[in-house]
Amino acid sequence: MNNAELLLARLRETHSLSLDEYAALIESQTPELMQQAAAFADEARRAVYGNRIFVRGLIEIGSLCRNDCFYCGLRRSNQTCERYLLDDETILRCCAEGYELGFRTFVLQSGEGCLSVARICDLVREIKRRHPSCAVTLSLGEFERADYQAMFDAGADRYLLRHETADKAHYEKLHPRELSFDRRMTCLKDLKEIGYQVGCGFMVGSPFQTAQTLAKDLKFVEEFQPDMCGVGPFIPHHATPFAAEPAGTVEQTCYLLSLLRLIRPNLLLPATTALGTVDPLGREKGVLAGANVVMPNLSPVSVRKKYELYNNKICTGEESAQCKTCLNARMSAIGFEIVTDRGDIIKNGNL
Ligand code: 5AD
Ligand code: FES
Repeated sequence: MNNAELLLARLRETHSLSLDEYAALIESQTPELMQQAAAFADEARRAVYGNRIFVRGLIEIGSLCRNDCFYCGLRRSNQTCERYLLDDETILRCCAEGYELGFRTFVLQSGEGCLSVARICDLVREIKRRHPSCAVTLSLGEFERADYQAMFDAGADRYLLRHETADKAHYEKLHPRELSFDRRMTCLKDLKEIGYQVGCGFMVGSPFQTAQTLAKDLKFVEEFQPDMCGVGPFIPHHATPFAAEPAGTVEQTCYLLSLLRLIRPNLLLPATTALGTVDPLGREKGVLAGANVVMPNLSPVSVRKKYELYNNKICTGEESAQCKTCLNARMSAIGFEIVTDRGDIIKNGNL
């Protein structure tokens, strides 16, 4: 075995490596090593989750955003972006439709500062009242701890807040000065302490990313122990400062998914829409590399094109039912099964 193969074998046993070792593994990526990592990851995932794939219904509730992240199409400086905000009735209708299709988790996502805390709390309460067997996940950006607490008390179960990069200097190259790496980390810590099931995450191939910054992302997941980690390739958006930057690759994204699965065998790892955008079979490749979650879109078709985080985002013309059917077929074609379940993290190893 060469050095990289030894590191991979050790990661599989101990679920931990040093920063330098993670960087060495990332730099040693070859088709053979990717295949080995995917085989180990598949074995680790099957031991916890079998061939079950969890599904979450994503509802993009508003595209307004007060932030100006350099990579994101929803950034406030993008004047070509048509802004919308769904009303409660429409959001509740998306949930009802999703429930009928077998979704037991609804993810409400928006740009930052779209909705007041009071409105978020009312909405969460109403969704939980109508669908008590379902989990509600929020992905609405940064708030004060008291606000996160209020949303949790209203019934929210989970919160997704990608850390974007665990390297402070890198974070500062992806965001304008008013956004702070330390504040991001404080938000994640607050969410965890409050009792949410927390998801972090990062883009693969974002500008200025290196093996060292990625090694920090892996170390962060090892230490922070999130329940979920969203990882997708960076894809340039035409009306952002990063318009001319190259996209991340499906290969590196899949390799990192495999490494994350070995770091935390029970981690909820989505095969993201971004992965399906850079490669028509991206989500299948993500699942085969170790992902165990898919998040089809439940937003009304009328607004989907407006929630344009990056160029050529897929599933903007399909109805919710079409996306669900499409993903069922895609998963069963590779030997996996989408289940009607809240899809909570399995902590005791029992299937
Ligand atoms: N390419 C890929 N992912 C992106 N996101 C935002 N912009 C892009 C892009 N250009 C991701 C960020 C954010 C999530 C909602 O979408 O990681 O946290
Ligand atoms: Fe939306 Fe395939 S998942 S069309």
